[in-house]
Amino acid sequence: MSTTSEPLKRVIVTGGSGYIGSHVIFALQETRRYKVISIDNHHNSHPKCLDRVAQIARDALPKDASEQDKDTAEIDAHACDLTKPDEIRGVFERYGKGGIWGVIHIAAYKAVGESTEKPLLYYANNVGATVSLLQVMSEYGCTRMVYSSSATVYGTPPIIPIPESTRLKADSPYGKTKVMSETVLEDLCTAEPERWRALSLRYFNPAGAHPSGLIGEDPKGRPGNLLPLLAHMAVGRVKDDKLRVFGNDYPTPDGTCVRDYLHVIDLAKGHLLALTALADDSKVFDNCPTAARYKAYNLGKGNGMSVLQIVEAMRKATGYDFKYEIIGRRRGDVPDLTADPSLAQKELGFFAGQDLQTMCRDLWNWQTKNPNGYDTEAPSPAAAQ
Ligand code: WQD
Repeated sequence: MSTTSEPLKRVIVTGGSGYIGSHVIFALQETRRYKVISIDNHHNSHPKCLDRVAQIARDALPKDASEQDKDTAEIDAHACDLTKPDEIRGVFERYGKGGIWGVIHIAAYKAVGESTEKPLLYYANNVGATVSLLQVMSEYGCTRMVYSSSATVYGTPPIIPIPESTRLKADSPYGKTKVMSETVLEDLCTAEPERWRALSLRYFNPAGAHPSGLIGEDPKGRPGNLLPLLAHMAVGRVKDDKLRVFGNDYPTPDGTCVRDYLHVIDLAKGHLLALTALADDSKVFDNCPTAARYKAYNLGKGNGMSVLQIVEAMRKATGYDFKYEIIGRRRGDVPDLTADPSLAQKELGFFAGQDLQTMCRDLWNWQTKNPNGYDTEAPSPAAAQ
């Protein structure tokens, strides 16, 4: 957390008040090298979230913090529809041409099942918005992007663990929007290799929360994902008496699906490493096969866990005696998504070191301190220790 005399770099985080976005903003603020601007339409996030992120940053400032360091703790927040170029221009205009150093583009709809029912909504919001954002970025001379991609680009991968060289063959409209957006980025970097630099980060399964318990995952309505659902069951927010396990007839050790869970703090730090790799003096593009400064990296632990192993880990973390029943498979599920994380480790220095029990402990700490998510009165900083 160096106090730097270098001028701050302005970075936009789209989806900044979401689960991943808020933890990425936290990681940026920890460096005190960036002035963070958040763009979020709060479709699946809570405006209060950024107040808490800023509070974490303020509380971490030394008593004699410089004005510049204090400025890094304050977030410029804009509610903007990324499918509307004029609304995006309205944000960029505030900072002028060349005023924004880079963009971390996280905002997207992400429910695999919903994407099969509403494909147009997903293509407009995930691909259309990415194109609009890139167009406005180009107009304002902002030509660096870290893009939030997903392991779902691999569909049902031919080998496990999955290397980045695996063919991209998404099974759901959601996954296809991620493949398409990666393709747009790669083609842009190929067309203008002297201007553009971009990295796509293929998330596996983020889990956990900031250890303060001040920020965490707060899905609107009933959680679709396994870990937040288990946390809601244990805290009484979801009244199900048992978990429905979507199939135990997969070719996996216990028959239930395997996923690669990584701590959201480790994932956030991966974004910081990617942003640093977009700097002019970065070596990360030196061995690119083409002139295009574009690459994709897996962000995972390389350690797959089954549904039943997750249930057991959450039983330990919460003390709640989860019951479950095996029902039919969920459409769009694949047997195993476990990353080969070696490329990001080698080229970005990325390492997802926090273990599953830590993820479950931090998730439970967030959930018990915020039984109603961000609608719960913020725990006092002292209570957050
Ligand atoms: C995990 C496992 C389910 C709920 C998520 C995001 C997706 C993408 C990847 C970003 C699966 C099983 C779940 C339940 C269950 N993220 N399960 N009962 O499917 O890997 O997808 O991560 O790109 O957008 O949704 O995660 O938590 O939904 O499911 O048995 O009630 O738990 O079948 O095998 P998934 P998940």
